[in-house]
Amino acid sequence: MADSDSMLAASALSHGYLPDRGQGPALVDVNLDLARGEFVALCGPSGSGKSTLLLALGGMLTPTSGRVRFDGQDLYALSGSERRRIRRARLGFAFQSMHLVPYLSAQANVALGDPGAGADRRSLSRLGELGLGERASHLPEQLSAGERQRVALARALAAEPEVLLADEPTGNLDPESAGLVCKQLTAYHDSGGTLLLVTHDAELARRAPRLLQLAEGRLVAAAPSKL
Ligand SMILES: Nc1ncnc2c1ncn2[C@@H]1O[C@H](COP(=O)(O)OP(=O)(O)OP(=O)(O)O)[C@@H](O)[C@H]1O
Ligand SMILES: [Mg+2]
Repeated sequence: MADSDSMLAASALSHGYLPDRGQGPALVDVNLDLARGEFVALCGPSGSGKSTLLLALGGMLTPTSGRVRFDGQDLYALSGSERRRIRRARLGFAFQSMHLVPYLSAQANVALGDPGAGADRRSLSRLGELGLGERASHLPEQLSAGERQRVALARALAAEPEVLLADEPTGNLDPESAGLVCKQLTAYHDSGGTLLLVTHDAELARRAPRLLQLAEGRLVAAAPSKL
């Protein structure tokens, strides 16, 4: 039923993590639709449900109720293996707690996202674009939090996903490194990617033509001045 322009959509999406312990819901009746190639920023206070929404949209958290449609397919009506296939082949994630492979260098971690010939060279160049050319041979444990976060972003971009879900990708970064991340995200969008970006960074959010805001699990009218 989704129109052909819809890339990723949530309808009546609600989620409660621990309702039997009296915890309030993390998401309440969220409806949103990202068109193919759209760039949307999502903001909201800590605890408002931003990461939960990204996990549900990315096929990693079965919501308590409601639906997620990826390119018209009902993600949670698919089998686990079909959902994983979509996740691997078509979705990219840059999440707050990013898991790099601990025994691979930064460059090798990025190359994991890129199955093509010449991945080593491209991975090095991606790291360079994010200000990490000098860190290519470092293991994750030898990197700072912000450096690891950028390696994870480089890995996600290396896979050239149709949709990229990014959770505060500049959260740990100084303004210069944040600028590099911003440039790569903009380039991803300019090349046709669909981007949903959680951010508290007003500079970054301003780049998005559409801004969404969550408050206590509900989508509310966006208020850019409150970023
Ligand atoms: N695994 C979990 N188990 C139980 N409750 C959780 C879990 N993850 C998140 N929550 C709760 O769900 C609510 C929404 O959390 P979420 O991580 O989505 O917020 P957020 O908007 O991403 O916050 P932040 O800006 O701090 O990252 C919070 O009240 C949080 O405590
Ligand atoms: Mg979060």
